[in-house]
Amino acid sequence: MIHNNLPHGGVLINRLVSGAQRELLLQEARHLPVILIDSWAKSDIHCLGMGAFSPLSGFLDEKDYESVLQKMRLADGTVWTIPITLAVDERHERLALGDKVLLRGEDGIDYAVLTVTSKYTPDKRKEALLVYRTTDEEHPGVKRLYERPRLYLGGPIDVLHEPVPAQFQAYYFRPAETRALFAELGWKTVVGFQTRNPVHRAHEYIQKTALEIVDGLFLNPLVGATKADDVPATVRMESYEVLLKNYYPSNRVFLGAFPAAMRYAGPREAVFHAMVRKNYGCTHFIVGRDHAGVGSYYGTYDAQHIFSEFAPEELGISLLFFEHSFYCTKCQGMATTKTCPHESHDHLTLSGTKVRELLRNGQKPPQEFTRPEVAEILIKGMKEKQTQA
Ligand code: ADX
Repeated sequence: MIHNNLPHGGVLINRLVSGAQRELLLQEARHLPVILIDSWAKSDIHCLGMGAFSPLSGFLDEKDYESVLQKMRLADGTVWTIPITLAVDERHERLALGDKVLLRGEDGIDYAVLTVTSKYTPDKRKEALLVYRTTDEEHPGVKRLYERPRLYLGGPIDVLHEPVPAQFQAYYFRPAETRALFAELGWKTVVGFQTRNPVHRAHEYIQKTALEIVDGLFLNPLVGATKADDVPATVRMESYEVLLKNYYPSNRVFLGAFPAAMRYAGPREAVFHAMVRKNYGCTHFIVGRDHAGVGSYYGTYDAQHIFSEFAPEELGISLLFFEHSFYCTKCQGMATTKTCPHESHDHLTLSGTKVRELLRNGQKPPQEFTRPEVAEILIKGMKEKQTQA
């Protein structure tokens, strides 16, 4: 058994300051230079503060950054595949190492204090190639990387104000809380599920197949920034609420929001997603087809293959890999090519474009693809989006 139920790196990080320590820091903060941050940095501060990104205690310094890029590990050898970095305007070049700065949101709230231990200018092309495996600006992750300012600041953060958005308040849990909850429920094994989409039958199939062999299922839809044409987080969460009510055993499933932003880094993001769910207390993690992928930048199973580059003990979580799943009209059930002997023309597959077209016209996709209750939510969501546009 490779899962030891420890957080990644052994200790759950907590960078949330409270009580007298917070009062002191607030006083000090009044005299600190201010850096305005975007929604990405805010999501990262949220995840870093509560230990979802353990063992990170802040934004990567240059040494860790280079190591993550080249070796998919922090400088001390711990597996880490996605650079968590703070990009700031070049006028902050004047900051000296050891300086503290206040990280302020666009809403005027002072979220955290960063102690600058590293200042560096990234080679963005190199970062794109190594993290995203492409330098194509059409790739949403690469596009965002290229749009960011050119100076990175690294160092530990102290969180003054946890950036829990009002939305889905009831679904925000810190890793320490989910760990306690899973223990209370008596779950010794818990499988984590990452998603940025509304729940379709294929998702349900792999979730429930996994649930056959573990004690509990932690559904953890991402609610941070995504690309504009992804289904909005509100609709994503609503689709889960209705499905859980009608089709999942309430004592074996737990729904919590994952506040991170989506990078679309495919394979590297799959490893990152697994490490983060380990921090939330998962012993298992699902990786299906083209996990965290976009367009045709990654091979269908690249996000599974990447895990073989690490020793099971350094990952510390069991991976559950799933083939592309579909409804087979001959089997009359959900299947994959591992379990179904029929030809592909017997398989019901719908492209994202086709599904969006149906929904836009107020038509429900076949119930073998999307359950009618979910389809209703998607049609409503699509209408609201059209009225807003
Ligand atoms: S992701 O960007 O968050 O990975 P999505 O929400 O579509 O996108 O996928 C969530 C998880 O379900 C991922 O592990 C993905 O590989 C898996 N998945 C999605 N669709 C299928 C499918 N048809 N067959 C097998 N796995 C799938």
